[in-house]
Amino acid sequence: MVATSMDQLVSLCKRRGFIFQNADIYGGMQGLYDYGPLGVELKNNLKAAWWRSMVYERDDVEGLDSAILTNRKVLHYSGHEDTFSDPMVDCKKCKGRFRADQIDGKCPVCGSTDLTEPRPFNLMFKTQVGPVENDENIAYLRPETAQAIFTQFKNVVDSTSRKLPFGIAQIGKSFRNEITPRNFIYRVREFEQAELEFFVQPGTDSAWHEKWKEDRIQWWLNQGLKMENIHIYKTPDDDLAHYAKACYDIEYRFPHGMEELEGIANRRDYDLGNHTKNQSEFNLEAHCHENKESTTKLAIQDENGKWVIPFVIEPSMGIDRGVLAVLTEAYTEEDLGDGNSRIVLKLKKHLAPIKVAIIPLKKNNEQIMRKCHELKQNLMKLGIGRVALENTGNIGKAYRRHDEVGTPLCLTVDFETIEQQPESVTIRDRDTMSQIRVNTADLATYLKNYFL
Ligand code: GLY
Repeated sequence: MVATSMDQLVSLCKRRGFIFQNADIYGGMQGLYDYGPLGVELKNNLKAAWWRSMVYERDDVEGLDSAILTNRKVLHYSGHEDTFSDPMVDCKKCKGRFRADQIDGKCPVCGSTDLTEPRPFNLMFKTQVGPVENDENIAYLRPETAQAIFTQFKNVVDSTSRKLPFGIAQIGKSFRNEITPRNFIYRVREFEQAELEFFVQPGTDSAWHEKWKEDRIQWWLNQGLKMENIHIYKTPDDDLAHYAKACYDIEYRFPHGMEELEGIANRRDYDLGNHTKNQSEFNLEAHCHENKESTTKLAIQDENGKWVIPFVIEPSMGIDRGVLAVLTEAYTEEDLGDGNSRIVLKLKKHLAPIKVAIIPLKKNNEQIMRKCHELKQNLMKLGIGRVALENTGNIGKAYRRHDEVGTPLCLTVDFETIEQQPESVTIRDRDTMSQIRVNTADLATYLKNYFL
């Protein structure tokens, strides 16, 4: 059974050190979370899986890591200054502010119907760069990682000699001043995105859009999500983001309902068209802002030698939403049939925060502990991920803890290990709870075969 309530996940995440409320000791800050010792491992593993499939396993994608502080002009020409807003209403009585589409003509706090007309509220966090506060020095925390991919398009093309089709991938933090952050890490104000901007010859965009939709569904299945919990939503034309020609949402059955996990948009030539110099030289399809400030043509030669502004297909996932989805799917309450039950996190092994827990049968036995330390030193060199020496509590508690955090294998050093030759340990499988004995001389091969 997957997690059916958010409370189950919130409780597990706090108890076992995956995710904490930010500034918890001061009462917290809405829409901000911190990833704890195991959460950071899970999140890093999910990001690594995305990067591997997007960059390493392909021959047509390059990476980028750009600044978070964003020049105002970028977000002016991208359209975000004008259009990246939600219609808001203010309650004149209690001064609360709410998204107009989320209330029903009545203040959800005090019940008053004395509300302002809806007006746009920009979702970007504004700041200033340098000591002087004036219009020239305004910058924003980026609301999407995509924009720097567009503004660096020419530098990447020139430095890599790429031809169409090709993509640029980026993972990083983005910020949106959500009015009503909610549903744990689902809708937050500071979050991480993994975005690919895939540049294609105009006219081939619809076929690429379909292909990326299929590829991305398969990737999510590889992360452990089940197809029965996935739904593909095609955004109606009148609900599209300001840059999009078409968009598919990969939706997932989160504990709070079926909601977007990843968007796959056809942004056509909207962004490069907005940021390019000499716009009139190109036959732009999207309706772009006039730009007289850009210093660079963001065009590429197609296979006929013609300079074109490519179209863009953008698979864009929220990493935090991804973490929430894999946790939801992996969370399992299992009846063990003898009046006992256990919680087990059936994460895919490449996502598990701890790959192997080394557990001493008796932690006050010097020889057993020495062997545990020696095994830890040797096994961590295999490059399989985090190998943890578990020296808290008794063996039953250690198994329970590692079931709950999704550790695929527990390796126990017992008296047989130190007393009998050939030297061996037990390995317990998280999902089946079955145990086998493996000679320590064979451990490296066994674990490499299992994890790599
Ligand atoms: N780049 C698309 C998004 O941030 O939603």
